[in-house]
Amino acid sequence: MTASELRQKYLEFFEKHGHAIIPSASLIPENDPTVLFTTAGMHPLVPYLSGEKHPQGKRLANCQKCIRTGDIDEVGDATHHTFFEMLGNWSLGDYFKKEAIEWSYEFLTSPEWLGLDKNRIAVSVFAGDKDAPFDSEAYEIWKSLGVSEKRIAKLPKKNNWWGPAGETGPCGPDSEIFYWVGDPENVPESFNDDNDLWVEIWNDVFMEYGKKKDGTYEKLEQKNVDTGMGLVRVLVAINGLDDNYKTELFWPIIQKIEELSGKKYEDNKKEFRIIADHIIASVFIIADGITPSNVQRGYVLRRLIRRAIRQGHLIGIKENFINEIAKVVQEIYEDIYPEILKENILGVLEKEEDKFNELLSDNKVLKLKNKEVERYKLFLLASMMEKGISSDKVDEFMNKKILAEGTPITATAFNLESTHGYPHDMFFLELFKGVGLSKSTSDSLGKKLEKDFIERDFKQHQELSRTASAGMFKGGLADAGEISVKYHTATHLLLAAIREILGQEIYQKGSNINAERLRFDFNYPEKLTPEQIKKIEDLVNQKIQENIPVEMIEMKKDEALKIAKISFDPAKYGEIVKVYKIGDFSIELCGGPHVKNTSEIGKFKITKEESSSAGVRRIKAVLG
Ligand code: SER
Repeated sequence: MTASELRQKYLEFFEKHGHAIIPSASLIPENDPTVLFTTAGMHPLVPYLSGEKHPQGKRLANCQKCIRTGDIDEVGDATHHTFFEMLGNWSLGDYFKKEAIEWSYEFLTSPEWLGLDKNRIAVSVFAGDKDAPFDSEAYEIWKSLGVSEKRIAKLPKKNNWWGPAGETGPCGPDSEIFYWVGDPENVPESFNDDNDLWVEIWNDVFMEYGKKKDGTYEKLEQKNVDTGMGLVRVLVAINGLDDNYKTELFWPIIQKIEELSGKKYEDNKKEFRIIADHIIASVFIIADGITPSNVQRGYVLRRLIRRAIRQGHLIGIKENFINEIAKVVQEIYEDIYPEILKENILGVLEKEEDKFNELLSDNKVLKLKNKEVERYKLFLLASMMEKGISSDKVDEFMNKKILAEGTPITATAFNLESTHGYPHDMFFLELFKGVGLSKSTSDSLGKKLEKDFIERDFKQHQELSRTASAGMFKGGLADAGEISVKYHTATHLLLAAIREILGQEIYQKGSNINAERLRFDFNYPEKLTPEQIKKIEDLVNQKIQENIPVEMIEMKKDEALKIAKISFDPAKYGEIVKVYKIGDFSIELCGGPHVKNTSEIGKFKITKEESSSAGVRRIKAVLG
């Protein structure tokens, strides 16, 4: 079965069961600044899982592109990825455990659908703890479907609880479905969570709780179902493969890397896999509007691209090669995600590759790196001498030393890389060579330090983004949602005011909201005069003071497009859309949420007007 057949079958199955098929949302969460990327299909649906009405109804399904960076040090094995697609179906206060479990089982095992062997399936349910009880309901449903008790594991929160996607929000106990990928003639009678041959392929989450800022859980008024099925994992299971990279979603990339490097995949699996994984993720992240930088999403992107380039160098690729692989990625995915054909993608990748290669030959950085290598080398050799350890014992000595104190070396490597861009793994290698380590010790210590490094890197990075979001949300995370909603409605008023003052041909070119300000880009050829700015500001404030109710109307997309302004690509919306109307002043097609009445917004003040790019102006404004 091919990936496209699998996607189609899944969506067809749930459409038959009354689900509306919704498009994949962007990898960049639109209304949740507390996380960097969309990490699951439920993520863009958080407002609806929290009770807001979804314009397409109570049963939804889709194929969602996701990025997870939490497991990045596992990438390189057969199953972990940074980018992946998740097939999901949702019930927003509609069906619950019985239907969710029965449908997932039917889809997986019925010969009419995937026809997986029932004898190779095991499941797990939530065992219960102080926050929520044992999920006996899910347990009984599985039993009634004929799954043997030995194959139904009761596991704690660590395994069988999902969410929230951000720091607070909807979550709940889940029931996971595993498939035996070992010898079909020898399927163990009992399920064992520690055995990697049982691969998780599906997760049914019963979202009946909300996690609050203080860490406690409350029952949600609306009971939801959130399910997710990993596309690649299922593809591998159905086709009886032992490696995700052998599916058609990766194999053409692997072949390209063989061609570019002259090396075999079988001999260099880890490097090949990291290159493939990271470039796929990079192409998708750039397609959703991010470019490499030293902060937040741009930083993750930069690290992904540079890690891929490093692996390329390690397997002997000398020329720029990222674009050659990116083009293959585009061929694999263009039919379902046309955004990855955006014209800037290859340019962004090429520029980053040039920049990184320049850095690798920058004398100043090289000198600094040599100094650090020398310093460490001397220090290590001196401590060996001091302890009377002979130089042929260097492997043993370094092993102990690094196991005990790996972190100072990682810290230096971290500083070299984060401040000067010099790759940490090259630093480790040179240091090991400098002290005369054997290849095998060098490899194993390299792995250990790599793990330390990634932990440090992502911790630091998380801290950075947490500090950034803490800064954005002085009122605390719980208030952030509310404040963002006010800014969102203010943005609608702003566009309407701009159009009234500057001309009806103006449309939105970009919008960004956090809890401290709004930023709005629009087409206009010249700098605004202070008078124009004041007029716009006054008009927005006037509308706020008029206490106008904000109404939401659902209608067919083509009708809506005739009367409403659109803020982004209409293709992103489904067939039935929401239109938000603020009196006769503003009518916009938009997913919401918004305040109920303009009076909730408070005072509006424009703090800056500047150029954003040719022909595009940018306004920043705050609410007081
Ligand atoms: N949100 C759940 C997961 O990611 C189910 O979709 O596993």
